[in-house]
Amino acid sequence: MASTHVASAHGAAQVLVASNRGPVSYEVQEDGSLRTKRGGGGLVSGLSAIGPDAGALWVCSTLSDGDREAVRRGEGESGVRMLDIPADVHADAYNGIANSVLWFVHHMLYQTPLEPVFDAEFQRRWASYETYNRAFAEALAEEAAAGAAVLVQDYHLCLVPGMLREQRPDLRIGHFSHTPWAPVDYFRMLPDDIRSQLMSGMLGADRLGFLTRRWADAFTACCAEQGGLGGTEIGVHGLGADADFLRKRSHERDVEERMTALREEIGGPDRKTIVRVDRTELSKNIVRGLLAYRQLLDDRPEWRERVVHVAFAYPSRQDLAVYRDYTAEVQRLAEEINSSYGTPGWTPVVLHVKDDFARSLAAYRLADVALVNPIRDGMNLVAKEVPVVSDEGCALVLSREAGAYEELGEDAIVVNPYDVLDTARALHEALTLPPHERAERTKRLAAAATALPPGQWFMEQLRALRA
Ligand code: F6P
Repeated sequence: MASTHVASAHGAAQVLVASNRGPVSYEVQEDGSLRTKRGGGGLVSGLSAIGPDAGALWVCSTLSDGDREAVRRGEGESGVRMLDIPADVHADAYNGIANSVLWFVHHMLYQTPLEPVFDAEFQRRWASYETYNRAFAEALAEEAAAGAAVLVQDYHLCLVPGMLREQRPDLRIGHFSHTPWAPVDYFRMLPDDIRSQLMSGMLGADRLGFLTRRWADAFTACCAEQGGLGGTEIGVHGLGADADFLRKRSHERDVEERMTALREEIGGPDRKTIVRVDRTELSKNIVRGLLAYRQLLDDRPEWRERVVHVAFAYPSRQDLAVYRDYTAEVQRLAEEINSSYGTPGWTPVVLHVKDDFARSLAAYRLADVALVNPIRDGMNLVAKEVPVVSDEGCALVLSREAGAYEELGEDAIVVNPYDVLDTARALHEALTLPPHERAERTKRLAAAATALPPGQWFMEQLRALRA
């Protein structure tokens, strides 16, 4: 497999990060040139904390034709090595296994009477998952300097630590899970040989990181079934919000413009807003959020015309039919609520599906209530970002199944995400929280949310891995 390889001599990298999605992506323009797009997120700002001279290399996969073209042309960012995984292998590993099996297991998303079914097609895809993991392990083995630290990310790359350990026993290998880990009985749905492959892959690491104690304990419980942790250490690092970046970014002009536009859409100066911002991801529970809002309008008709549900549901993993169906259901239900309850001057649900970060920040600043009700979530950074950015304080309705609950539960209004009646009640409670209490809670939420900013989060893991 060909790959771009810039700015790092063979075997010279001291710190290596490996993830499916890298920090850059490429698009072929009409004139044939390549447009570079840079991503954000905790890992990008975390890695920047170690500085440009630390000998860092980010190994990631090509995800699109643009990325593959960049690799073939030898154009690429310094400090990034993109692996040219064949498109069909990547599709089987990423869509077929990582997103359709491992993501489903860790988030408990199966409708179990009919799924999962582990058949020959599953086995075929699993072979691609192995090939894809092996491509990462080989590239890392090639690039790492003696004794280097390697930080492998997420469920896409569970087999990498074990494969890499075999090739390079001198390395310090860490793996970090950004998702929950499945409870033991749910994990047991996987075929025995797959479970033991996953476990020996993960346990090839010196250290395994999780976002919360709960997910770390779930892993340890699954491991106990398979013979225990051996010499692998477990760490908990609760990624926090990047306060400095968010506060600055949310006061830029484009955000102010979006606030004006949003206020117009909401209408009426005294109208309250219930805001949610998510990728349209099955685990985010957007449909039950809408059902709870409808329930609120039924149970408490006094809120009609006085509240608007601002829901941003940005596209995610649209290659998978089940995600497309879910997106359609979100849109259908929002329209149904608007046509049943709306009046000439009031649109009960303002739904946007086009990703716009500035508009998300605008909604964070305006929100009276933030609704974060996932079925299960590794952390949920929206729950942490809203209190940091909010202008006048915002009540947080938070699922007890989100990782963020561990740190924010005390000052949030906590819900069982499956219980629509309970969520409707919580929305009412949040809307009626006295302003003083709302402001006080928001201050405490913001402090808890920023306890471990991305830079520190990353450095903490690196130090622990090297120790
Ligand atoms: O949010 C959890 C997470 O696993 C992130 O670590 C990762 O970036 C993302 O999900 C993967 O999403 P996608 O399939 O869009 O790359």
